[in-house]
Amino acid sequence: MGCWKVMDLRLRSWLPWIVMFAAGVIAYTYYQFLNPQNCAGFYVCRLAVEKASFPPVESTTEPMTPSLDQFKPLYNDTRRIAVCIVGGARMFEITGPSLRKHLLDVFNNTDVFLHSPLDADSHKLTLLAGRNLRVAKIFVPQTLPETKIIQEVITSWGSPRGMQGLLQYFNLVEGCYGMVKKYEVQRNFTYDWIIRARADGYWSAPVPDISQLDPNYYYVAAGSMFHGLNDRFGMGSSHTSRAANTRLTLLPVMHMRGLRGLNSESAYKAQLTVSGVLFKPIQVPFCIVTLRTPRCPPLPRGLLLLSMASEGPMSGAYCRPCDAEVNATASAAIVTARERDWDWPGIEGERVTVCDGIKPWAPTWRRIADEVYKRNLGLDEEIRDFQSRSREECIEEMEAFQRLWDIWDSLSPEIICNSAFPLKGW
Ligand SMILES: *[C@@H]1O[C@H](CO)[C@@H](O)[C@H](O)[C@H]1NC(C)=O
Ligand SMILES: *[C@@H]1O[C@H](CO)[C@@H](O)[C@H](O)[C@H]1NC(C)=O
Ligand SMILES: *[C@@H]1O[C@H](CO)[C@@H](O)[C@H](O)[C@H]1NC(C)=O
Ligand SMILES: *[C@@H]1O[C@H](CO)[C@@H](O)[C@H](O)[C@H]1NC(C)=O
Repeated sequence: MGCWKVMDLRLRSWLPWIVMFAAGVIAYTYYQFLNPQNCAGFYVCRLAVEKASFPPVESTTEPMTPSLDQFKPLYNDTRRIAVCIVGGARMFEITGPSLRKHLLDVFNNTDVFLHSPLDADSHKLTLLAGRNLRVAKIFVPQTLPETKIIQEVITSWGSPRGMQGLLQYFNLVEGCYGMVKKYEVQRNFTYDWIIRARADGYWSAPVPDISQLDPNYYYVAAGSMFHGLNDRFGMGSSHTSRAANTRLTLLPVMHMRGLRGLNSESAYKAQLTVSGVLFKPIQVPFCIVTLRTPRCPPLPRGLLLLSMASEGPMSGAYCRPCDAEVNATASAAIVTARERDWDWPGIEGERVTVCDGIKPWAPTWRRIADEVYKRNLGLDEEIRDFQSRSREECIEEMEAFQRLWDIWDSLSPEIICNSAFPLKGW
Protein backbone atom coordinates (compact mmCIF):
# COMPACT_ATOMS: atom_id res chain seq x y z
CA MET A 1 0.00 0.00 0.00
CA GLY A 2 2.85 2.35 0.86
CA CYS A 3 4.32 1.61 -2.53
CA TRP A 4 1.08 2.33 -4.30
CA LYS A 5 0.90 5.68 -2.55
CA VAL A 6 4.36 6.61 -3.71
CA MET A 7 3.51 5.76 -7.29
CA ASP A 8 0.33 7.71 -7.07
CA LEU A 9 2.10 10.73 -5.68
CA ARG A 10 4.70 10.63 -8.39
CA LEU A 11 2.14 10.49 -11.11
CA ARG A 12 0.17 13.33 -9.61
CA SER A 13 3.16 15.57 -9.17
CA TRP A 14 4.63 14.84 -12.58
CA LEU A 15 1.51 15.20 -14.64
CA PRO A 16 0.96 18.98 -14.20
CA TRP A 17 4.68 19.45 -14.49
CA ILE A 18 4.82 17.71 -17.82
CA VAL A 19 1.84 19.70 -19.06
CA MET A 20 3.49 22.98 -18.05
CA PHE A 21 6.76 21.90 -19.58
CA ALA A 22 5.02 21.12 -22.83
CA ALA A 23 3.31 24.50 -22.67
CA GLY A 24 6.72 26.09 -22.13
CA VAL A 25 8.17 24.31 -25.14
CA ILE A 26 5.27 25.39 -27.30
CA ALA A 27 5.47 29.00 -26.12
CA TYR A 28 9.22 29.10 -26.65
CA THR A 29 8.88 27.54 -30.08
CA TYR A 30 6.26 30.06 -30.95
CA TYR A 31 8.55 32.96 -30.05
CA GLN A 32 11.35 31.41 -32.04
CA PHE A 33 8.97 30.98 -34.89
CA LEU A 34 7.87 34.62 -34.69
CA ASN A 35 11.46 35.79 -35.04
CA PRO A 36 12.26 35.70 -38.75
CA GLN A 37 16.00 35.72 -38.09
CA ASN A 38 15.76 32.46 -36.20
CA CYS A 39 13.33 30.64 -38.32
CA ALA A 40 13.40 29.50 -41.85
CA GLY A 41 10.65 27.03 -41.15
CA PHE A 42 8.86 25.50 -38.22
CA TYR A 43 10.87 22.28 -38.26
CA VAL A 44 14.11 24.24 -37.97
CA CYS A 45 12.65 26.07 -35.05
CA ARG A 46 11.80 22.89 -33.27
CA LEU A 47 15.34 21.63 -33.66
CA ALA A 48 16.62 24.87 -32.22
CA VAL A 49 14.34 24.46 -29.25
CA GLU A 50 15.46 20.94 -28.57
CA LYS A 51 19.09 21.93 -28.63
CA ALA A 52 18.68 25.13 -26.69
CA SER A 53 18.63 24.83 -22.94
CA PHE A 54 16.13 27.23 -21.54
CA PRO A 55 16.07 26.96 -17.77
CA PRO A 56 13.96 30.13 -17.38
CA VAL A 57 10.81 28.50 -18.75
CA GLU A 58 11.45 25.22 -17.01
CA SER A 59 12.48 26.37 -13.57
CA THR A 60 9.69 28.88 -13.14
CA THR A 61 6.85 26.74 -14.38
CA GLU A 62 7.62 24.20 -11.71
CA PRO A 63 6.72 26.29 -8.66
CA MET A 64 3.80 27.68 -10.63
CA THR A 65 2.01 24.37 -10.53
CA PRO A 66 1.17 24.17 -6.87
CA SER A 67 0.30 20.60 -6.10
CA LEU A 68 -1.93 20.90 -3.05
CA ASP A 69 -2.01 17.16 -2.48
CA GLN A 70 1.72 17.10 -2.07
CA PHE A 71 2.01 19.94 0.41
CA LYS A 72 3.24 18.82 3.82
CA PRO A 73 3.44 21.61 6.37
CA LEU A 74 6.37 21.61 8.75
CA TYR A 75 4.24 22.67 11.71
CA ASN A 76 1.06 20.98 12.78
CA ASP A 77 -0.94 24.14 13.36
CA THR A 78 -4.13 24.91 11.49
CA ARG A 79 -4.78 28.42 12.79
CA ARG A 80 -5.21 31.03 10.06
CA ILE A 81 -2.07 33.04 9.40
CA ALA A 82 -1.57 36.04 7.15
CA VAL A 83 1.93 36.78 5.92
CA CYS A 84 2.67 40.30 4.72
CA ILE A 85 5.68 40.69 2.48
CA VAL A 86 6.70 44.29 1.98
CA GLY A 87 9.30 46.22 0.03
CA GLY A 88 11.32 46.08 -3.15
CA ALA A 89 12.59 42.91 -4.80
CA ARG A 90 16.19 43.95 -5.43
CA MET A 91 17.96 40.63 -4.81
CA PHE A 92 14.81 38.54 -4.96
CA GLU A 93 16.62 35.77 -6.87
CA ILE A 94 18.29 35.09 -3.52
CA THR A 95 15.53 36.02 -1.08
CA GLY A 96 12.35 34.93 -2.93
CA PRO A 97 12.75 31.13 -2.84
CA SER A 98 13.91 31.32 0.79
CA LEU A 99 10.75 33.23 1.74
CA ARG A 100 8.65 30.62 -0.03
CA LYS A 101 10.41 27.71 1.64
CA HIS A 102 10.90 28.96 5.19
CA LEU A 103 8.00 31.36 5.67
CA LEU A 104 5.12 30.72 3.27
CA ASP A 105 5.22 26.92 3.18
CA VAL A 106 5.72 26.00 6.85
CA PHE A 107 2.20 26.34 8.25
CA ASN A 108 -0.87 24.54 6.99
CA ASN A 109 -3.03 27.60 6.71
CA THR A 110 -1.04 30.59 5.47
CA ASP A 111 -2.30 33.39 3.23
CA VAL A 112 0.17 35.62 1.41
CA PHE A 113 -0.12 39.40 0.96
CA LEU A 114 2.40 41.41 -1.05
CA HIS A 115 2.91 45.19 -0.93
CA SER A 116 5.75 46.35 -3.13
CA PRO A 117 6.71 49.57 -4.92
CA LEU A 118 7.36 49.27 -8.65
CA ASP A 119 10.98 49.38 -9.81
CA ALA A 120 13.28 47.61 -12.26
CA ASP A 121 13.42 44.55 -9.97
CA SER A 122 9.67 44.05 -9.51
CA HIS A 123 9.63 41.47 -12.31
CA LYS A 124 11.60 39.11 -10.03
CA LEU A 125 8.56 38.80 -7.77
CA THR A 126 7.34 35.92 -9.97
CA LEU A 127 9.63 33.77 -7.79
CA LEU A 128 6.92 33.97 -5.15
CA ALA A 129 4.72 31.72 -7.30
CA GLY A 130 3.14 28.91 -5.36
CA ARG A 131 0.14 28.16 -3.24
CA ASN A 132 -1.86 30.48 -0.97
CA LEU A 133 -1.43 33.82 -2.78
CA ARG A 134 -4.20 36.25 -1.79
CA VAL A 135 -3.70 39.96 -2.48
CA ALA A 136 -0.85 41.58 -4.45
CA LYS A 137 -0.31 45.30 -4.65
CA ILE A 138 2.64 46.35 -6.80
CA PHE A 139 2.25 50.09 -7.18
CA VAL A 140 3.91 53.34 -8.22
CA PRO A 141 4.99 55.05 -4.99
CA GLN A 142 3.76 58.61 -4.42
CA THR A 143 5.48 61.23 -2.30
CA LEU A 144 3.93 61.16 1.17
CA PRO A 145 3.20 64.40 3.03
CA GLU A 146 5.74 65.31 5.71
CA THR A 147 3.45 67.05 8.16
CA LYS A 148 4.56 69.10 11.14
CA ILE A 149 3.52 66.30 13.48
CA ILE A 150 5.60 63.77 11.58
CA GLN A 151 8.63 66.06 11.52
CA GLU A 152 8.42 66.50 15.26
CA VAL A 153 7.87 62.86 16.20
CA ILE A 154 10.27 61.28 13.71
CA THR A 155 13.89 62.05 12.93
CA SER A 156 15.38 60.82 9.70
CA TRP A 157 18.88 60.97 11.19
CA GLY A 158 20.77 57.83 10.18
CA SER A 159 18.11 56.79 7.69
CA PRO A 160 19.72 56.14 4.30
CA ARG A 161 16.85 57.57 2.29
CA GLY A 162 15.79 60.35 4.63
CA MET A 163 12.32 61.16 5.90
CA GLN A 164 10.59 60.10 2.66
CA GLY A 165 12.35 56.73 2.83
CA LEU A 166 11.04 56.19 6.36
CA LEU A 167 7.51 57.25 5.47
CA GLN A 168 7.49 55.00 2.42
CA TYR A 169 8.53 52.08 4.62
CA PHE A 170 5.86 52.90 7.22
CA ASN A 171 3.32 53.09 4.39
CA LEU A 172 4.37 49.70 3.01
CA VAL A 173 3.91 48.09 6.42
CA GLU A 174 0.63 49.79 7.29
CA GLY A 175 -0.69 49.36 3.75
CA CYS A 176 -0.09 45.62 3.82
CA TYR A 177 -1.82 45.37 7.19
CA GLY A 178 -4.75 47.28 5.63
CA MET A 179 -4.87 44.76 2.77
CA VAL A 180 -5.13 41.94 5.30
CA LYS A 181 -7.92 43.70 7.20
CA LYS A 182 -9.85 44.43 4.02
CA TYR A 183 -9.57 40.82 2.91
CA GLU A 184 -10.86 39.70 6.32
CA VAL A 185 -13.95 41.88 5.91
CA GLN A 186 -14.52 40.64 2.36
CA ARG A 187 -14.26 37.00 3.37
CA ASN A 188 -15.89 37.33 6.77
CA PHE A 189 -13.20 35.83 9.00
CA THR A 190 -10.20 37.02 10.99
CA TYR A 191 -6.65 35.77 10.97
CA ASP A 192 -5.30 34.35 14.18
CA TRP A 193 -1.77 35.54 13.50
CA ILE A 194 -0.21 38.11 11.21
CA ILE A 195 3.46 37.82 10.22
CA ARG A 196 5.23 40.75 8.63
CA ALA A 197 8.47 40.26 6.72
CA ARG A 198 10.58 42.09 4.15
CA ALA A 199 11.03 41.09 0.52
CA ASP A 200 14.79 41.60 0.88
CA GLY A 201 15.06 39.07 3.73
CA TYR A 202 17.02 35.86 3.17
CA TRP A 203 15.66 33.03 5.35
CA SER A 204 18.21 30.41 6.34
CA ALA A 205 15.75 28.31 8.40
CA PRO A 206 12.00 28.18 9.15
CA VAL A 207 10.14 30.96 10.95
CA PRO A 208 9.41 30.12 14.63
CA ASP A 209 6.32 27.99 15.24
CA ILE A 210 3.38 30.04 16.52
CA SER A 211 2.30 27.21 18.79
CA GLN A 212 5.45 27.95 20.82
CA LEU A 213 4.52 31.61 21.18
CA ASP A 214 2.17 33.48 23.50
CA PRO A 215 -0.55 35.46 21.68
CA ASN A 216 -0.47 38.10 24.42
CA TYR A 217 2.90 39.31 23.16
CA TYR A 218 4.11 40.80 19.93
CA TYR A 219 7.30 39.12 18.73
CA VAL A 220 10.11 41.04 17.10
CA ALA A 221 13.58 39.99 15.96
CA ALA A 222 16.27 40.29 18.65
CA GLY A 223 19.21 42.64 18.11
CA SER A 224 19.59 45.48 15.59
CA MET A 225 17.68 47.65 18.04
CA PHE A 226 19.19 51.08 17.34
CA HIS A 227 17.92 52.25 20.76
CA GLY A 228 14.42 50.94 20.03
CA LEU A 229 13.19 47.64 18.62
CA ASN A 230 14.33 45.83 15.49
CA ASP A 231 11.64 46.73 12.96
CA ARG A 232 12.61 44.35 10.15
CA PHE A 233 10.18 41.61 11.18
CA GLY A 234 7.23 41.07 13.49
CA MET A 235 4.61 38.46 14.31
CA GLY A 236 1.65 38.44 16.62
CA SER A 237 -2.04 37.90 17.13
CA SER A 238 -4.59 40.02 15.36
CA HIS A 239 -4.74 42.38 18.35
CA THR A 240 -1.01 42.92 18.93
CA SER A 241 -0.35 43.16 15.18
CA ARG A 242 -2.54 46.22 14.94
CA ALA A 243 -0.28 48.19 17.28
CA ALA A 244 2.84 47.04 15.46
CA ASN A 245 1.70 47.67 11.90
CA THR A 246 -0.25 50.94 12.03
CA ARG A 247 2.95 52.87 11.73
CA LEU A 248 1.50 56.08 10.27
CA THR A 249 -1.83 56.11 12.13
CA LEU A 250 -0.16 55.98 15.53
CA LEU A 251 2.17 58.95 14.90
CA PRO A 252 -0.38 61.58 16.09
CA VAL A 253 -1.03 59.48 19.21
CA MET A 254 2.68 59.40 19.93
CA HIS A 255 2.84 63.14 19.31
CA MET A 256 0.10 63.72 21.87
CA ARG A 257 2.08 61.71 24.39
CA GLY A 258 4.93 64.16 23.89
CA LEU A 259 7.26 61.78 22.05
CA ARG A 260 9.78 63.60 19.83
CA GLY A 261 12.78 62.91 17.60
CA LEU A 262 12.35 59.14 17.32
CA ASN A 263 14.18 57.03 14.76
CA SER A 264 12.37 54.18 13.03
CA GLU A 265 13.26 51.63 15.71
CA SER A 266 12.36 53.82 18.70
CA ALA A 267 9.09 54.73 16.98
CA TYR A 268 8.38 51.02 16.59
CA LYS A 269 8.94 50.45 20.29
CA ALA A 270 6.91 53.54 21.20
CA GLN A 271 3.89 52.52 19.18
CA LEU A 272 3.71 49.19 21.02
CA THR A 273 4.17 50.95 24.33
CA VAL A 274 1.51 53.63 23.74
CA SER A 275 -0.87 50.86 22.66
CA GLY A 276 -0.19 48.88 25.81
CA VAL A 277 1.09 45.87 23.86
CA LEU A 278 3.80 43.73 25.44
CA PHE A 279 6.60 42.51 23.22
CA LYS A 280 9.36 39.93 23.21
CA PRO A 281 12.49 39.81 21.06
CA ILE A 282 13.27 36.34 19.67
CA GLN A 283 15.97 34.94 17.39
CA VAL A 284 14.66 34.79 13.86
CA PRO A 285 16.65 33.05 11.11
CA PHE A 286 16.80 35.71 8.42
CA CYS A 287 19.10 38.49 7.30
CA ILE A 288 18.53 41.55 5.11
CA VAL A 289 20.46 41.22 1.87
CA THR A 290 22.20 44.51 1.14
CA LEU A 291 24.41 45.98 -1.56
CA ARG A 292 25.87 48.50 0.91
CA THR A 293 29.63 48.37 1.48
CA PRO A 294 30.37 49.17 5.13
CA ARG A 295 33.82 49.36 6.72
CA CYS A 296 35.18 46.28 8.42
CA PRO A 297 35.51 46.15 11.37
CA PRO A 298 32.56 48.53 11.60
CA LEU A 299 32.78 51.86 13.39
CA PRO A 300 30.94 51.94 16.75
CA ARG A 301 27.86 53.46 15.08
CA GLY A 302 28.61 51.88 11.71
CA LEU A 303 26.88 49.06 9.92
CA LEU A 304 27.55 45.43 10.82
CA LEU A 305 27.59 43.13 7.80
CA LEU A 306 27.34 39.34 8.14
CA SER A 307 28.01 36.53 5.72
CA MET A 308 24.75 34.95 4.57
CA ALA A 309 26.46 31.61 5.26
CA SER A 310 26.38 32.28 9.04
CA GLU A 311 25.32 29.26 11.09
CA GLY A 312 23.18 30.94 13.72
CA PRO A 313 19.96 32.91 13.20
CA MET A 314 21.02 36.36 12.04
CA SER A 315 17.89 38.00 13.39
CA GLY A 316 17.56 40.54 10.63
CA ALA A 317 21.16 41.81 10.52
CA TYR A 318 22.53 42.92 7.14
CA CYS A 319 24.20 40.24 5.05
CA ARG A 320 25.43 39.28 1.59
CA PRO A 321 26.98 36.36 -0.24
CA CYS A 322 30.44 36.88 1.19
CA ASP A 323 33.75 36.32 -0.59
CA ALA A 324 35.77 37.77 2.29
CA GLU A 325 34.57 36.18 5.54
CA VAL A 326 36.37 37.30 8.67
CA ASN A 327 37.93 34.34 10.54
CA ALA A 328 36.05 32.92 13.52
CA THR A 329 38.20 34.56 16.20
CA ALA A 330 38.11 38.02 14.70
CA SER A 331 34.42 37.65 13.82
CA ALA A 332 33.46 36.73 17.39
CA ALA A 333 35.51 39.65 18.69
CA ILE A 334 33.77 42.10 16.35
CA VAL A 335 30.27 40.87 17.25
CA THR A 336 31.00 40.82 20.99
CA ALA A 337 32.27 44.38 20.86
CA ARG A 338 29.05 45.71 19.31
CA GLU A 339 26.86 47.91 21.45
CA ARG A 340 23.92 45.68 22.51
CA ASP A 341 21.34 48.41 22.08
CA TRP A 342 22.53 49.33 18.60
CA ASP A 343 23.65 47.23 15.62
CA TRP A 344 24.19 43.85 17.29
CA PRO A 345 22.88 40.63 15.69
CA GLY A 346 21.19 39.57 18.91
CA ILE A 347 23.29 36.45 19.27
CA GLU A 348 26.66 35.25 20.47
CA GLY A 349 29.56 36.03 18.18
CA GLU A 350 30.55 32.39 17.60
CA ARG A 351 27.33 31.64 15.77
CA VAL A 352 27.53 34.28 13.08
CA THR A 353 30.28 35.21 10.65
CA VAL A 354 31.21 38.79 9.90
CA CYS A 355 31.79 39.73 6.26
CA ASP A 356 34.43 42.20 5.12
CA GLY A 357 32.20 44.00 2.67
CA ILE A 358 34.13 47.17 1.94
CA LYS A 359 34.33 46.13 -1.71
CA PRO A 360 31.24 45.69 -3.90
CA TRP A 361 29.79 42.22 -4.35
CA ALA A 362 32.27 39.79 -5.88
CA PRO A 363 31.63 38.73 -9.49
CA THR A 364 31.40 35.19 -8.06
CA TRP A 365 28.49 36.11 -5.73
CA ARG A 366 26.11 33.78 -7.54
CA ARG A 367 28.29 30.72 -6.94
CA ILE A 368 28.85 31.70 -3.30
CA ALA A 369 25.14 32.27 -2.72
CA ASP A 370 24.25 29.06 -4.53
CA GLU A 371 26.23 26.96 -2.06
CA VAL A 372 24.58 28.55 0.97
CA TYR A 373 21.22 28.40 -0.69
CA LYS A 374 21.44 24.69 -1.42
CA ARG A 375 22.48 23.96 2.14
CA ASN A 376 19.84 26.15 3.81
CA LEU A 377 16.98 25.42 1.46
CA GLY A 378 17.73 21.83 0.56
CA LEU A 379 16.81 22.56 -3.05
CA ASP A 380 18.50 21.29 -6.17
CA GLU A 381 17.62 24.41 -8.07
CA GLU A 382 20.25 27.02 -8.66
CA ILE A 383 19.64 30.68 -8.03
CA ARG A 384 17.63 32.03 -10.93
CA ASP A 385 19.67 34.04 -13.42
CA PHE A 386 17.46 36.86 -14.63
CA GLN A 387 20.06 37.99 -17.16
CA SER A 388 18.60 35.48 -19.53
CA ARG A 389 14.99 36.57 -19.08
CA SER A 390 13.53 38.32 -22.08
CA ARG A 391 10.73 40.85 -22.06
CA GLU A 392 8.40 38.29 -23.63
CA GLU A 393 9.23 35.66 -21.04
CA CYS A 394 8.75 38.25 -18.33
CA ILE A 395 5.25 39.15 -19.51
CA GLU A 396 4.29 35.53 -19.96
CA GLU A 397 5.50 34.51 -16.51
CA MET A 398 4.06 37.64 -14.90
CA GLU A 399 0.66 36.86 -16.40
CA ALA A 400 0.81 33.32 -15.05
CA PHE A 401 1.86 34.78 -11.69
CA GLN A 402 -1.05 37.23 -11.74
CA ARG A 403 -3.50 34.35 -12.19
CA LEU A 404 -2.28 32.71 -8.97
CA TRP A 405 -3.58 35.60 -6.84
CA ASP A 406 -7.14 35.92 -5.55
CA ILE A 407 -6.88 39.70 -5.93
CA TRP A 408 -4.40 41.44 -8.20
CA ASP A 409 -4.62 45.07 -7.12
CA SER A 410 -1.45 45.80 -9.07
CA LEU A 411 -0.03 47.27 -12.22
CA SER A 412 -0.34 45.17 -15.35
CA PRO A 413 2.33 42.58 -16.23
CA GLU A 414 3.33 44.75 -19.23
CA ILE A 415 4.00 47.77 -17.03
CA ILE A 416 5.94 45.72 -14.49
CA CYS A 417 8.04 44.10 -17.23
CA ASN A 418 8.53 47.43 -19.01
CA SER A 419 10.36 48.84 -16.02
CA ALA A 420 12.90 46.03 -16.26
CA PHE A 421 12.99 45.56 -20.03
CA PRO A 422 12.18 48.94 -21.59
CA LEU A 423 11.08 48.80 -25.20
CA LYS A 424 13.99 50.01 -27.28
CA GLY A 425 14.05 51.94 -30.54
CA TRP A 426 11.18 54.37 -29.87
C1 LIG B 1 -1.44 17.60 15.25
O1 LIG B 1 -2.19 18.22 16.28
C2 LIG B 1 -3.35 17.49 16.66
C3 LIG B 1 -4.12 18.27 17.70
O2 LIG B 1 -3.67 19.56 17.86
C4 LIG B 1 -2.96 16.12 17.18
O3 LIG B 1 -4.11 15.40 17.51
C5 LIG B 1 -2.16 15.41 16.12
O4 LIG B 1 -1.70 14.17 16.59
C6 LIG B 1 -0.97 16.24 15.66
N1 LIG B 1 -0.29 15.58 14.57
C7 LIG B 1 1.05 15.54 14.46
C8 LIG B 1 1.55 14.81 13.25
O5 LIG B 1 1.79 16.02 15.27
C1 LIG C 1 -4.35 21.22 6.99
O1 LIG C 1 -5.63 21.81 6.92
C2 LIG C 1 -6.58 21.08 6.23
C3 LIG C 1 -7.86 21.86 6.18
O2 LIG C 1 -7.79 23.07 6.79
C4 LIG C 1 -6.77 19.72 6.91
O3 LIG C 1 -7.66 18.95 6.18
C5 LIG C 1 -5.44 19.02 7.01
O4 LIG C 1 -5.57 17.83 7.74
C6 LIG C 1 -4.42 19.89 7.69
N1 LIG C 1 -3.14 19.23 7.70
C7 LIG C 1 -2.37 19.17 8.79
C8 LIG C 1 -1.08 18.47 8.64
O5 LIG C 1 -2.69 19.66 9.85
C1 LIG D 1 -19.93 36.01 9.06
O1 LIG D 1 -19.54 34.94 9.89
C2 LIG D 1 -20.31 34.80 11.08
C3 LIG D 1 -19.71 33.72 11.96
O2 LIG D 1 -18.73 33.01 11.33
C4 LIG D 1 -21.76 34.52 10.72
O3 LIG D 1 -22.55 34.42 11.89
C5 LIG D 1 -22.28 35.65 9.83
O4 LIG D 1 -23.58 35.35 9.41
C6 LIG D 1 -21.38 35.83 8.63
N1 LIG D 1 -21.79 37.02 7.88
C7 LIG D 1 -21.93 37.03 6.58
C8 LIG D 1 -22.36 38.30 5.97
O5 LIG D 1 -21.73 36.04 5.90
C1 LIG E 1 42.14 36.13 12.08
O1 LIG E 1 42.12 37.40 11.47
C2 LIG E 1 42.83 38.38 12.21
C3 LIG E 1 42.56 39.74 11.57
O2 LIG E 1 42.56 39.67 10.18
C4 LIG E 1 44.30 37.99 12.24
O3 LIG E 1 45.02 38.97 12.97
C5 LIG E 1 44.42 36.66 12.90
O4 LIG E 1 45.76 36.23 12.86
C6 LIG E 1 43.56 35.61 12.22
N1 LIG E 1 43.53 34.42 13.01
C7 LIG E 1 43.67 33.19 12.48
C8 LIG E 1 43.61 32.06 13.43
O5 LIG E 1 43.82 33.03 11.29
